[in-house]
Amino acid sequence: MKDQLIIFDTTLRDGEQSPGASMTKDEKIRIARALERLKVNIIEAGFPAASIGDFESVQAVANIIKESTVCGLARALDKDIDRAGEALKGAQQSRIHTFIATSPIHMKMKLNMTQEQVIEHAVKAVKRARQYTDDVEFSPEDAGRSEEDFLCRILEAVIDAGARTLNIPDTVGYSIPQQFGATIKSLIERIPNSDKAIFSVHCHNDLGLAVANSLSAVMNGARQVECTINGLGERAGNASLEEIVMAVKTRHDIFDCQTRIDTREILTCSKLVSSITGFPVQPNKAIVGANAFAHEAGIHQDGILKSRETYEIMRAEDVGWSANRMVLGKHSGRNAFKSRINELGFEFDSEAELNDAFARFKQLADKKHEIFDEDLQTLISETSIDAEDEHIKLVSLKVCSETGEIPNAIVTLRVNNQEVTGHSKGGGVVDATLKAIENLVKSDALLELYSVNNVTNGTDAQGEVTVRLEKAGRIVNGLGADTDIVTASAKAYINALNKLLNANTRQHPQKSEV
Ligand code: KIV
Ligand code: ZN
Repeated sequence: MKDQLIIFDTTLRDGEQSPGASMTKDEKIRIARALERLKVNIIEAGFPAASIGDFESVQAVANIIKESTVCGLARALDKDIDRAGEALKGAQQSRIHTFIATSPIHMKMKLNMTQEQVIEHAVKAVKRARQYTDDVEFSPEDAGRSEEDFLCRILEAVIDAGARTLNIPDTVGYSIPQQFGATIKSLIERIPNSDKAIFSVHCHNDLGLAVANSLSAVMNGARQVECTINGLGERAGNASLEEIVMAVKTRHDIFDCQTRIDTREILTCSKLVSSITGFPVQPNKAIVGANAFAHEAGIHQDGILKSRETYEIMRAEDVGWSANRMVLGKHSGRNAFKSRINELGFEFDSEAELNDAFARFKQLADKKHEIFDEDLQTLISETSIDAEDEHIKLVSLKVCSETGEIPNAIVTLRVNNQEVTGHSKGGGVVDATLKAIENLVKSDALLELYSVNNVTNGTDAQGEVTVRLEKAGRIVNGLGADTDIVTASAKAYINALNKLLNANTRQHPQKSEV
């Protein structure tokens, strides 16, 4: 029997720390359900002390998820640990993950603490967390730049205090595979009580080495990897779950461990996370990129036709790609629609919500005859926007574009229940539309990103638009989908404006106090 490699997913916590990727409670629940179907061992659902909203999201995930352990992050502070313990009360299996920085630069510049003080805080935090659950994880933040002797001392102390998982984070993505693997091996060998804990790694991708560093750690004794769907995460992101899992599975001849992941659920999860966060997946991304299993060059195609192994090391079906993905069409009924949506992990809160979604499904099916899971996922994203959060709504949009003429857009919005109409010219119809909306709303937000992706293939596909806005240091991503990309753009811009209008005073776990 091979050892189990524990997959700890932190899409809902570290992934959410990507600029503009913050998620609502309902969005977190949808992703958590998909992660449970993927069979991840642990779902890090958030940082409960960040805000009331974050607390409630972790609590909701803890109450719903049954097959995966639900984890909450806490700084090494009594109040954070108590909030995490409280939020996780309803979980079938819960874990508290507490951390404190251990690198010389973090201890001096961020914490202003000596090594002894840091050890004292860490031990106290682990003991307090153990009052809530037996499953306590400790991370020495910025371990990648910490002194090994100090890591040995603090890790030995937290194991004695009751930590059962020791996570070694390469917080700033500074490590190199061979060296990082050697560090993990050395820590396991040097810490006298290391057999009482599982060693874990959490690698950031600043040098593009997060997956390589994680795999090197696994080859040197780590038995938990922290990772995210699509490699989402702070700055350049975290190690990508799909790449770690498929590397271990595909190269089972090299790895002496295995995961319990149901790899056929990978693609659905990837698309869901991308559509909720507004972070598109690059076409050449391993495993989940649109080109990952597409063989276009003639020589490759010829080779594939004779024998698929010529150029394929994995089967597309094993990660969720399938040839015939049409699921519903124009004539599909309400029951078929509802049951497919339920299979995708979404429950309607009321008959009215189902009726509204079904009506929008019918409108879409009129414009686009074949409806795929991806279309349904986008439709659900719109269903789950809370009416209370929609201060601004799109009522109508008319655009004019003619060769040699300047494009013009006329937009009618409902702003706090009052209809207003405005127009603008622009460089193109999208530009004119967004300017017309801005003329009406006067948000003064800075447009940081505008991108369009097709949800499925074909010219009748829905376009999914992401708009990133920044105002007074707050960054939000807005999403909109429609078979008409100008309408999708207007929806995305309005979605981002609504998010900016909704107060959010959350704390970042790694930038404050301890
Ligand atoms: O990158 C990091 O160090 C973290 C810790 C909180 C584990 O995300
Ligand atoms: Zn991190």
